[in-house]
Amino acid sequence: MALLGVVVRRRYFSPISDIPGPFWASFSLLWQLHKIFTKHTERDTINAHKKWGKFVRISHNEVSISDPDAVREVLQSQMDKADWYKIFSLPDSRYVNTMSETDHKEMVRRTRNVAVGYSLSNILKGEPHIDGCISLFREQLTRLAKLAPAGGIHLDKWVNYLAFDIVGESTFSKSFGFLDSGCDIGNSISNQFKLRLYIAIIGHYNYMHDYLLANPLIAYFNLQPSMHIFDTCLAAVETRSKNTEARNDMIEQWQAQRRAHPDRMAENEVLAAAVANMGAGADTVSSVLQALFYHLLRDQESLKLLREEIDNANLSDIPSYAEVRELPILAACLKEAFRIHTPVGFGIPRVSNGATVCGRYFPPGVILSVSPWVIHRQESIFGPDPESYNARRWLATGKEDEARTAAMERLLIPFGSGYGTCPGKNLAHIEMLKTVSLVVRDFTWKQIREGEDWEFETYFTSVPHDWPVILERRVRT
Ligand code: HEM
Repeated sequence: MALLGVVVRRRYFSPISDIPGPFWASFSLLWQLHKIFTKHTERDTINAHKKWGKFVRISHNEVSISDPDAVREVLQSQMDKADWYKIFSLPDSRYVNTMSETDHKEMVRRTRNVAVGYSLSNILKGEPHIDGCISLFREQLTRLAKLAPAGGIHLDKWVNYLAFDIVGESTFSKSFGFLDSGCDIGNSISNQFKLRLYIAIIGHYNYMHDYLLANPLIAYFNLQPSMHIFDTCLAAVETRSKNTEARNDMIEQWQAQRRAHPDRMAENEVLAAAVANMGAGADTVSSVLQALFYHLLRDQESLKLLREEIDNANLSDIPSYAEVRELPILAACLKEAFRIHTPVGFGIPRVSNGATVCGRYFPPGVILSVSPWVIHRQESIFGPDPESYNARRWLATGKEDEARTAAMERLLIPFGSGYGTCPGKNLAHIEMLKTVSLVVRDFTWKQIREGEDWEFETYFTSVPHDWPVILERRVRT
């Protein structure tokens, strides 16, 4: 009876009762949970907006908004983050990081503490070490290409190794050794995928997190599913205090910040920030790189333009960031990959503080979410055929196109927007521009199952399934 009461109250007497949406969402989280299990939150949210319009009630207390103005009015506002983020306190609940902090003021404070580590100039100091990872990546791919394995080369695997090793090098001057060993040490990467499912679901029931994965006993008994990643991270932070020759990596910058302002930054914030990088900075990069390689096979015209641009640029053996940062076709190809395959597949959620958004008032406590996938599929902003990869949409040069391109740039939000914008944006751009230009210049690739569409799953990040390729070292004519 009590349950029925809750259902009726939520469905008919909530301040968002009049907002249309799926039946199950009108009184529960069931629609959202179901979409997690069908692994395509992003597509279902797009379809829900096509059916019900700009406001869709996706749970008893959450409204997804497709109006582009919501980027400014929700994401760029001072609304707190929804409780769902608390799940990112890993390895356990003592390690609150910028991702799991929900109070926007506290988050801004934490972000300021760590911002120096992510600055472009700081990351570029570690460029030779990023180059070391990219060089090893090429070496391994070249070796495999010569062996020509019958099952093809599993680019998804190698791109993941690369992204993890770079994030380790940049954060604490130590790669995880994935590229070197050529294997997923301790199944850490594949376990991370399971961790995603856990996060997507338990994020909605945060009180359980403290008893499950965030229970310190789990870490104590070494039961974390991605222990190699956490262990490497913990060891790197712990040995740092004894290492007098540490590079100027992110940890070094954060420790310096702590030394200068011990009152502003607690010791565990350093480890928490390093762990956040592991969770947020590898599969995201890998997902977009894979999307780019996959879609370029389907947009041969863009691939041809890109190859010409790269061949004519006379890049160094491992292209430097300075050489590739302003190549217009490369930039267009990457933006289009970000647009068509944004790693974050969920709506970015904020808690209304009693705000009018896109012409409607939402009382305090209602969760408002903005899905990058939904925004990126808007024909009125991104032009015709938004479902297709077409890098040339970013290259139009006419007078009228200028305003349209500016609007596209403003609404391309793979890194989020406002105070929650991804701090790893610079590192992501650097490693991706360098890797893509190197792969396009030095290799050709085609899918083993040519023409077959790939599959990917989205719990909260959108991860492509295995899609083996035939890779060949390219001989430039
Ligand atoms: C293609 C690459 C990447 C994409 C698309 C991406 C996207 C995002 C998004 C959408 C958020 C959450 C924004 C929000 O909730 O409002 C986020 C947060 C975060 N990202 Fe990234 N990210 C990428 C790469 C990286 C890299 C390379 C790092 C670090 C090495 C990183 C570190 C973080 C951290 C620490 C957070 C949480 C902090 C915060 O919310 O301020 N990300 N990222």
